[in-house]
Amino acid sequence: MKKKLLALSLSLAMAFSLAACGGNGGTANSNTPAGDGSDDGPIQVGFAQVGHESDWRTASTKSAQDVFSEENGYELSFVDCDNDSAVQLDAVRNFIQQGMDYIIIDPIVDTGWDAVLTECEDAGIPVIIIDRTITDSDKYTAWVGSDFKVEGLACGEWLKAFAADKGIEEINALVIEGSTGASATIGRTDGFKEIADREGWTILDSQSGDFTEAGGQEVMESYCQSYKGQFNVVICQNDNEAAGAMTAMDAAGVSYGVDGDVILVSFDANKPYVQLVMDGKINANFECNPMAAPMVDEIIKQLENNETPEKEVYVTESWFAAEDNIKTITVNGEEQEMVHVTQEVLDARPY
Ligand code: AHR
Repeated sequence: MKKKLLALSLSLAMAFSLAACGGNGGTANSNTPAGDGSDDGPIQVGFAQVGHESDWRTASTKSAQDVFSEENGYELSFVDCDNDSAVQLDAVRNFIQQGMDYIIIDPIVDTGWDAVLTECEDAGIPVIIIDRTITDSDKYTAWVGSDFKVEGLACGEWLKAFAADKGIEEINALVIEGSTGASATIGRTDGFKEIADREGWTILDSQSGDFTEAGGQEVMESYCQSYKGQFNVVICQNDNEAAGAMTAMDAAGVSYGVDGDVILVSFDANKPYVQLVMDGKINANFECNPMAAPMVDEIIKQLENNETPEKEVYVTESWFAAEDNIKTITVNGEEQEMVHVTQEVLDARPY
């Protein structure tokens, strides 16, 4: 109840002091458990997670469960929404009913959020968005995640430099997109297409593999039937799709990777797939960092201390390549390193 009052005071533009509003004492700081010193018990956090479609998602869920633990002063209510937007909206409404102190949402799709976020605001519950973005409402306290368009642009800029270095004059690409309506899909698609259009490349086809291995395999099987011999690049918008695409290409007798006919690119850079980069099966992999939870913990501690967190926090990400011919790429005017994957690089991967 006291934390609810704190949340309400924040939503009223922090007009009153914590003490005047009956807050929980603001004892948390970056070195102490979030609920430490509170007479309210643990901080209740509801997390409406996208689902369990990918290795990336597993890492994201584990990170949240590790951070929002009892020993860190939290009580976590976790809902796996199984990639169903209706389930996700219901989960958020249930969190409101249950009187959560904070609600975390990783939005399956980027629209349709204003009504439920208004309900959270009316209930005085701060909402923290992670990973994917929302485009039709700004009624949330903070967002922590990736710049998906930058990831797509980086993929395009690397491909441009790589093709030039190898003397590849024509790019005929097949794209396996992520889930339709997800900001991760929209950003990566837009970013890559921007470079493809600028460079005059052909995107032969672009279909959703739903961020799953089965989806990636199914789309690649149909691509191999429709476009065999016509493509020299496959862009998979996540690692699990890349796994499925490799299975399909193996079955169709299409060679890929460093020694193959097709340049294979992935996103996420989960450790087993960075290993595949080192092995030369995947030519390049553009990281999507799943470790938002520790930053959300910091945001909650700031709110508990009556501080105003940053509205947008970007996670840091790296780009990995199998070969060391391209050392850097320039994305949006900024020079960024292409990390050549060695055993040392692989060993240092946290997930
Ligand atoms: O929103 C992040 C994306 O969702 C990851 O790239 C993908 O693996 C996940 O399912």
